[in-house]
Amino acid sequence: MQTLPEILGAIVLEAAHSLVPGLEVRGPVVQATADAAHGDYQTNLAFRLTKALRLPPTACAEALAQALPDHPAVRSVEVAGKGFLNLRLHDAWLADALLALTGGDELDLPSPGQGRTVVVDYGSPNVAKRMHVGHLRSTNIGDALVKMWRALGYTVLGDNHIGDWGTQFGKLIVAWDRWRDEAAFEADAIGELERIYVKFAQETGPELEDLARENTARLQAGDPELTALWERFVRASLEEFDAVYERMGVRFDLTLGESFFQPMLAPIVAELLDRGIAEVDDGAVVVRFDKADGKGLGDAPMLIRKRDGAALYATTDLAALRYREQQWDPDHVVYVTDMRQQLHFRQVFAGARKAALTDAELEHVWFGMLSLPEGAMATRKGNVIRLGKLLDEAATRSRAVVDTKSPELPEAERAAIAEAVGVSAVRYADLSQNPQSNVTFDWDRMLALEGNTAPFLMYSYARCCSVQRKAGLVQREVSGLHLGEPAERELALALLRYPEALITALAARRPNMLCEALFGLAGSFNRFWYQVPVLRAEADQRAARLALVEATARVLGHGMRLVGIHTLERM
Ligand code: ARG
Repeated sequence: MQTLPEILGAIVLEAAHSLVPGLEVRGPVVQATADAAHGDYQTNLAFRLTKALRLPPTACAEALAQALPDHPAVRSVEVAGKGFLNLRLHDAWLADALLALTGGDELDLPSPGQGRTVVVDYGSPNVAKRMHVGHLRSTNIGDALVKMWRALGYTVLGDNHIGDWGTQFGKLIVAWDRWRDEAAFEADAIGELERIYVKFAQETGPELEDLARENTARLQAGDPELTALWERFVRASLEEFDAVYERMGVRFDLTLGESFFQPMLAPIVAELLDRGIAEVDDGAVVVRFDKADGKGLGDAPMLIRKRDGAALYATTDLAALRYREQQWDPDHVVYVTDMRQQLHFRQVFAGARKAALTDAELEHVWFGMLSLPEGAMATRKGNVIRLGKLLDEAATRSRAVVDTKSPELPEAERAAIAEAVGVSAVRYADLSQNPQSNVTFDWDRMLALEGNTAPFLMYSYARCCSVQRKAGLVQREVSGLHLGEPAERELALALLRYPEALITALAARRPNMLCEALFGLAGSFNRFWYQVPVLRAEADQRAARLALVEATARVLGHGMRLVGIHTLERM
């Protein structure tokens, strides 16, 4: 179905075109009003008619109001301010529209993504190293974007571009031979790999460096023994990563690490040289840019082969892009990483354009840094922590909340709730912030039951379910909606605004805008719940209100799942 702004925008445009045929309008025609006193939506289109009509804005607004076609959605129109038009929707029409949105097995959302394919490169931690909090953000934001695109009908391929190749493996193998502790590796593989890697750095000298280079070369040439060792490192790392993904409920469609693209690197460098897109510079190979390729790129050539012949991070990204083009013919390829990789991606995109590797739109969605609260969780380096430990800590802290709030529930259920609340709270604390701002975790705030938090949304959702349980409903359905009370109307409107919130948040690449809409929606639901009797209402009214509760559960639950929050029926 169409969103409210689409429906109303079309009505207003029809009127405008009847006054000024051929009028071109860019951008949204109507905006949601902040204050219900100004109606539900407002348009400033009159201001864009003044020239053609040679009338002041208020007169244009009057004319526009007169020309507005009859439509069942619109109850009243009024000219306001210096030429705005305020539109108010019909309650009965709202009820019908809400039924259309929520009445089926799935929400009837618009499907602008029909026939379009997006590849999302996100998560992407490096093997043999702790996943750091930057990867937490990439995983969180990437996963939310993937789910939002999917909800709007796009075909999405989520690809975990893990860093599983590079010279660090030559070093790790040397270190493994000399200093490994198998038992420590069994207990904590990444911890042990990090320990011996640090040891290598401390002990290093020309002899060890030579050995490391030799190992890297042997590994790249496919030496079976070293390959087996490398695989062991990779597998152990992926196990730890997978445990975190599992707890977070994140599933990648693909995990093609950097190693997957190795065979394609030498050929692509040769080809770019051949076509004159790359050039040799002091033994290395670079792609040079000029002003036309992008601001500042003129001074930043992209290195794609070192003097020793080794390929680089950028080379892999070029090869991966060509591969993605050939495999999936995407309309759009999106990379989600922290802000420090902006130059890298500008170079890769400029290089890919020069070489015509893909006709997809390329986009880097970058995010700011995330810091953890001072104290126990931070390690020496500040932000390299085990994400599993972070989630454990969140679960322990939520357990205290659950124990106070629901002491009557059985032990096992409280433990499960605490895990769900903890993980959801961590994800939401990240996602509810503008991605581009820096974020600091604050345990008390993210676990608060009031405010824009995961627990608040979770309790609101659970309340919907508990009302239904208390009503003894066998089948939960949305039917017989009727909007009488202002709080009912407010809630219905908040629900109907969900599709536009989803579209706007995705277009801005800001899941936090969706979070805000969900927070607003949960607020409307709670006001409704406190102001309007549901279980104690008379038969017809009771059924209509229970239907509104069910519509809330469906919309709120949908949005919560998009931003990675568990929807528990009882808490
Ligand atoms: N592994 C990289 C890192 O940890 C991120 C990879 C992002 N994706 C890409 N195609 N370059 O910084």
